[in-house]
Amino acid sequence: VETGLLDTFGRRAVDLRVSLTDRCNLRCTYCMPEEGLQWLAKDTLLTDEEIVRLVGIAVGELGVREVRFTGGEPLLRPGIVGIVAACAQLTPRPELSLTTNGIALARTAQALRDAGLDRVNVSVDTLDPATFKTLTRRDRLDDVHAGLAAAEAVGLRPVKLNAVLMRGVNDHEAADLLAYAVEHGYELRFIEQMPLDAQHGWGRSKMITAEEILERLSARFTLTPEPDERRGAAPAERWLVDGGPVRVGVIASVTRPFCRACDRTRLTADGQIRNCLFATEETDLRGALRAGAGDVEVAELWRKAMWGKKAGAGIDDPTFHQPDRPMSAIGG
Ligand code: GTP
Ligand code: 5AD
Ligand code: SF4
Repeated sequence: VETGLLDTFGRRAVDLRVSLTDRCNLRCTYCMPEEGLQWLAKDTLLTDEEIVRLVGIAVGELGVREVRFTGGEPLLRPGIVGIVAACAQLTPRPELSLTTNGIALARTAQALRDAGLDRVNVSVDTLDPATFKTLTRRDRLDDVHAGLAAAEAVGLRPVKLNAVLMRGVNDHEAADLLAYAVEHGYELRFIEQMPLDAQHGWGRSKMITAEEILERLSARFTLTPEPDERRGAAPAERWLVDGGPVRVGVIASVTRPFCRACDRTRLTADGQIRNCLFATEETDLRGALRAGAGDVEVAELWRKAMWGKKAGAGIDDPTFHQPDRPMSAIGG
């Protein structure tokens, strides 16, 4: 009598995003302030063993099929290779992926691949070192390029690139970024900026919309839409670029939300279940684990957490209010 992570709108979560840390080695202006944030206290962080146990419950009891590790910057977690290796031993074996800024990928890609990681998504918002420095407040674009090359070389494929465009900062680079992705065979996705920054500086009028992005790309490329039935629960709408084989995606969380098809459940680094990126309530699994709860009891708490999932993010609702937890502590 398997019962997965269902909600009252008939959705089923099969895709688990696990945040391994809220810390980061960059300071992207759309994410956090120069001085960083008040990081989660050490004793509230799940241990590697606790993470693997929870992923095991998700996969073994709750029907989760894909596990993505996120941050902050997940490669800052010392135990990441061991966590990946343990998750790759689970039955049924989940698909394992990672979302990273790429800085530490050059020196970790091989070990992650050997541990069983399947693929990576890497943030690449700009190709210009000076813009990179302005945007991330660190001068490390070369490390990102080295990381991408390493990921490709060890077979962490398909490599996907994520780009958030900001007006007056990197928005003029949209077509150049796509040319770069086409040249390397990467799948680039442009992401509409969401109201999840720690500084609460998001403004709808400042955001570069999907429509604007497509207009810019169409000036240089021929984009052919992928058939809708191939999208599934993917947040990205995709187009073939100049007849293919490379595709470009747009993740339009704000202007074309995809909440109706959402198949995600999230675990934060401090052991809280979030049923939505924009959830305002969380379910504490860390406390349950540390109070000695068994797998069945933990699974039941997780099911209850997902049952309460709202219809959508509700960014356009007059009552919308940004979650207290910033993007970097949710895991994107
Ligand atoms: P793939 O499996 O490769 O498609 O991964 P992904 O695109 O789901 O993951 P990634 O971590 O690369 O996220 C890309 C962007 O999509 C980030 O800005 C995420 O915050 C956003 N995103 C991921 N999941 C959701 C979601 O459930 N809702 C919304 N609104 N955005 C999401
Ligand atoms: N809105 C949209 N995307 C964001 N990211 C970080 N903050 C935001 C935001 N406020 C992106 C990162 C990374 C991905 C996981 O989410 O650039 O590529
Ligand atoms: Fe770090 Fe990602 Fe936030 Fe940039 S967006 S500061 S890479 S967590």
